[in-house]
Amino acid sequence: MLQVRDVWKNFQGSPVLRGVSLSVGAGEVVGLAGPSGGGKSTLLRCIEGLETADEGAIALDGSVGFMFQDFQLFPHMTVRENVAYALRPSKKENRAAVRVQDLLERLGIWDLRDRYPRSLSGGQKQRTALARTLVLDPDLLLCDEPTSGLDADCTDGVARLLRSAVSSQRAILIASHDSDFLKKAADRILHMQDGTIGKEVRNPFPLRAPNGAVRTADLLALAREEKGEQSQESGPQEEPQEEGTPSRIEFGEGQG
Ligand SMILES: Nc1ncnc2c1ncn2[C@@H]1O[C@H](COP(=O)(O)OP(=O)(O)OP(=O)(O)O)[C@@H](O)[C@H]1O
Ligand SMILES: [Mg+2]
Repeated sequence: MLQVRDVWKNFQGSPVLRGVSLSVGAGEVVGLAGPSGGGKSTLLRCIEGLETADEGAIALDGSVGFMFQDFQLFPHMTVRENVAYALRPSKKENRAAVRVQDLLERLGIWDLRDRYPRSLSGGQKQRTALARTLVLDPDLLLCDEPTSGLDADCTDGVARLLRSAVSSQRAILIASHDSDFLKKAADRILHMQDGTIGKEVRNPFPLRAPNGAVRTADLLALAREEKGEQSQESGPQEEPQEEGTPSRIEFGEGQG
């Protein structure tokens, strides 16, 4: 899905990426670890197209979504408005509304739909940001420091959340200096330092979210629906869940 080959990037004459190569396949969650300043965010920004590589090639088969380090939720918009905003140019308003509701339910934040970001916990903001990214159904999800500012419990929730968002058609690349988090979230971890990728560690025991198969199917159905493909499900059939109660999508972080 993603092939990065020998990418170089300089800022003001100093090299920040120095011949980075990596590949990510559909269905994989890949972690980018390493110390501050190593070039992780710069690499994600090059993949996303926010920066242009000076040399090398980046081939991406599919669409890309970016979840920013500080979430970048719009403070003057509610949870629902933040998520719906991503779909704004959509002509199919009704379908967009259904899709937003479905996703918020699946992520367990439908009850928070009319709240503003300032009144949300870190984990709740995190889920809102993820909803806003997933609503566009990206094939590759890039996450930059998704656990920054979250406590350990929330961090586990984010690991489960991200694992639940991967599917046979979607890959996730996560930059994080939190190696404990990456050990839970990622299938393999690439170590990045001084603009190069060093050793790769395969993770035999990534955190498995409960009922993962069900959730992946849910997200896939959502994706197909939006793409206009036929889906067995005609829409959200189940009742919105109370926050904190187990739902189809259980992220282990119910209290948020
Ligand atoms: N727009 C820019 N202009 C100049 N230098 C930059 C720019 N963006 C990043 N850099 C520099 O590039 C280097 C790599 O930064 P980057 O943000 O990619 O590292 P990182 O691995 O994501 O670090 P962290 O773990 O702290 O997020 C740093 O030395 C940084 O100062
Ligand atoms: Mg960074």
